[in-house]
Amino acid sequence: MAKLHNIPPEELERQRQYALKVREILSVKYPTAKPLAYVHTYGCQGNVADGERIEGLLSEMGYDFCDSPESADLVLYNTCAVREHAEDRVFGNVGKLKNYKKDKPDLIVALCGCMMQQAHVRERIYKSYPFVNLVFGTHVLHRLPELLYQTLTGGKRVVCAPEGFGEIAEHLPVRRSGGVKAWLPIMYGCDNFCTYCIVPYVRARERSREPEDVLREAREIIAAGCREITLLGQNVNSYGKGNKSELNFAGLLREINALPGDFKIRFMTSHPKDCTHELLETIAQCDKVSKHLHLPVQSGNDRVLRAMNRRYTRQQYLDLVADAKATVPGLSLTSDIIVGFPGETYEEFQDTVSLVRKVEYTSLFTFIYSPRKGTAAAELPDPVSHKEKTRWFAELTAVQEEIAANRIAESVGKTYTVLVEGRSKTDKSRLAGRTDGNVMIEFAGSPEKIGTYCEVRVTETGKWTLFGEALPQSDTE
Ligand code: SAH
Ligand code: SF4
Ligand code: F3S
Repeated sequence: MAKLHNIPPEELERQRQYALKVREILSVKYPTAKPLAYVHTYGCQGNVADGERIEGLLSEMGYDFCDSPESADLVLYNTCAVREHAEDRVFGNVGKLKNYKKDKPDLIVALCGCMMQQAHVRERIYKSYPFVNLVFGTHVLHRLPELLYQTLTGGKRVVCAPEGFGEIAEHLPVRRSGGVKAWLPIMYGCDNFCTYCIVPYVRARERSREPEDVLREAREIIAAGCREITLLGQNVNSYGKGNKSELNFAGLLREINALPGDFKIRFMTSHPKDCTHELLETIAQCDKVSKHLHLPVQSGNDRVLRAMNRRYTRQQYLDLVADAKATVPGLSLTSDIIVGFPGETYEEFQDTVSLVRKVEYTSLFTFIYSPRKGTAAAELPDPVSHKEKTRWFAELTAVQEEIAANRIAESVGKTYTVLVEGRSKTDKSRLAGRTDGNVMIEFAGSPEKIGTYCEVRVTETGKWTLFGEALPQSDTE
């Protein structure tokens, strides 16, 4: 669907004026040290990218940041609605803030993101969490300065979550938190309406950023020293529809690949129905594009796929995987799977298990179906118990662990190019990074190597992680 327009520059300027006013108010209220904001984002990388823009705006308004809600003057939860578990965690954490507010009556509690785009959630917050000061939806993120101004001056709770019309806010400040890795949204929203999924309702229609805006941000990221750019969208394969430019996703990848600099490109998520041979060839040909494709299948059974409205069959998916493996040698494939879609039988679930065995994914993200209010699947009869679905889930996890163990065992002795992301979380003397195929790898080395690419030979393996030794620098140049 066509994009309507970008948020006009006058509106962004109006927000900058509000940001200045908020800055002024805060400097009077906190004369000795900057107020502290604690921002926590749930959900997908797209939401993380939103959180980085929210932090950019807060920084412009005079906030510094802290990493726990206890010491904060403003707590903001950027929420996710994709499964019930995600929502429960948010309600639990918001509930805990009630006590902080007692000790610090000036504390501002703000909630935003996908959950806030649902009327029933806003009602629950309004009724049961009266200490929440500000609620805003996914389409008014750029209006945070105005909304915070109203919160600070109006003495009333502020709620703003209009339906979206597919607008894009360019030129927002960004406070990046990914270290050597950066998130780069190339599109927003989703038009696919998979029957289980809330995203199209809370993120509105699919729209793509113009290539010049994406390339400008990519150049900024590279200039800031980041070594890995992950392009984000719910369905990056349909990038560009409705844009002024005719560039499609494969073309965009080529343009980013052609930018000067020592960096890698990843992207997610690819919807199988829009994954073209042209894209596969582009992945193979572009030296900076990682040979990794996240290609969520969701189910291996045709009836379930149809009921999910995924718009491909098991065979079409397997043909695509065969083409992908043939076109991109050494390609690493990963996937998302839903276990226990309403009405799914154990026999149908077995088709998913056999597909997983056939494809041999590097890793899998498996979820038990969670009904989402307002989606088509939530209306379907769902006779299988949660306990039974949990057993299926365990069965699939065991199959994937077996596949991953075999694959990992085959890695011993091989050498991989690794972007060193930081120190290992379990052993600070080691460095940690990921292979091109997105597998964790740890090895001994000095911290100066963080943010560089190293050649690492695998010597041992853990359950999910590889262990290795760095080859001397001269081997890598
Ligand atoms: N746009 C991406 C997925 C975004 S949501 C795609 O189409 O592949 C991330 C994953 O969450 C989905 O791939 C799906 O596996 C899972 N998911 C979404 N809605 C869900 C629900 N209602 N219950 C369980 N898992 C769900
Ligand atoms: Fe949800 Fe489907 Fe859109 Fe992915 S493609 S965000 S699963 S509706
Ligand atoms: Fe969650 Fe919204 Fe992302 S529902 S998965 S944060 S688009």
